Amino acid sequence: MLPERLLAGPVALRHFTAADAPRVQLLAGEREVAESTALIPHPYPDGAAAAWIATHESARAKGTEFTYAITESGEDVLIGAIGLRPGPSEHESFGCWIGRPYWNRGYATAAAQAIIVLAFEWLDLDELTASHLARNAASGRVMEKCEMRLLRTETRDHRGMPEEFCVRGITREGWARVVGSDAPGQRPRVAETAKR
Ligand SMILES: CC(C)(COP(=O)(O)OP(=O)(O)OC[C@H]1O[C@@H](n2cnc3c(N)ncnc32)[C@H](O)[C@@H]1OP(=O)(O)O)[C@@H](O)C(=O)NCCC(=O)NCCS
Repeated sequence: MLPERLLAGPVALRHFTAADAPRVQLLAGEREVAESTALIPHPYPDGAAAAWIATHESARAKGTEFTYAITESGEDVLIGAIGLRPGPSEHESFGCWIGRPYWNRGYATAAAQAIIVLAFEWLDLDELTASHLARNAASGRVMEKCEMRLLRTETRDHRGMPEEFCVRGITREGWARVVGSDAPGQRPRVAETAKR
């Protein structure tokens, strides 16, 4: 079982609660956030966030998806979400969004690095892949900072339109090289934390 709470540099990860629903609707419902993702609806309908949060526990129990709320470290207020899907998947082992007021503070990178640690050190996966719209430079940069190499580009449907995607991946060996790196600040530190 994966930890319920993690500390990863500037952010903390925890399970969602029903009380997060209004912040999900507010932050993920912004066009600039929803539009880059495959699944977040826009406009974000009332009730959809609570319904989404209600799916997390059974997905965790089945091991199909582990979704974490992202908060600033030491805070409980939701600023984003990240999900790890360990099952066989063509190009999506994880997906992430951060609310717009919190962009460009290194939060997605820290959360993604924590997810990579969970995948390789807790779930024993051999490889993680993820994709992003080629025009989504911030997402590409987050993955680069996580040492996820470009595997290929491909055109796929995105919200009803053909779009170019970059598929990136990192293997267990690749990760071991990052973790073994001597470069200061390279090694992501992730700690399990107790319930507040
Ligand atoms: C993509 C997203 C998760 C990034 O979150 P974030 O917390 O701002 O990411 P970080 O701060 O960790 O890193 C962002 C990096 O992208 C860079 N960046 C941001 N906008 C950029 C742009 N337009 N062009 C190039 N680089 C850009 C930042 O400078 C930073 O890199 P740096 O640390 O080298 O300076 C966030 O923008 C988001 O939620 N977008 C909408 C949803 C989405 O796209 N999700 C991903 C789907 S695959």
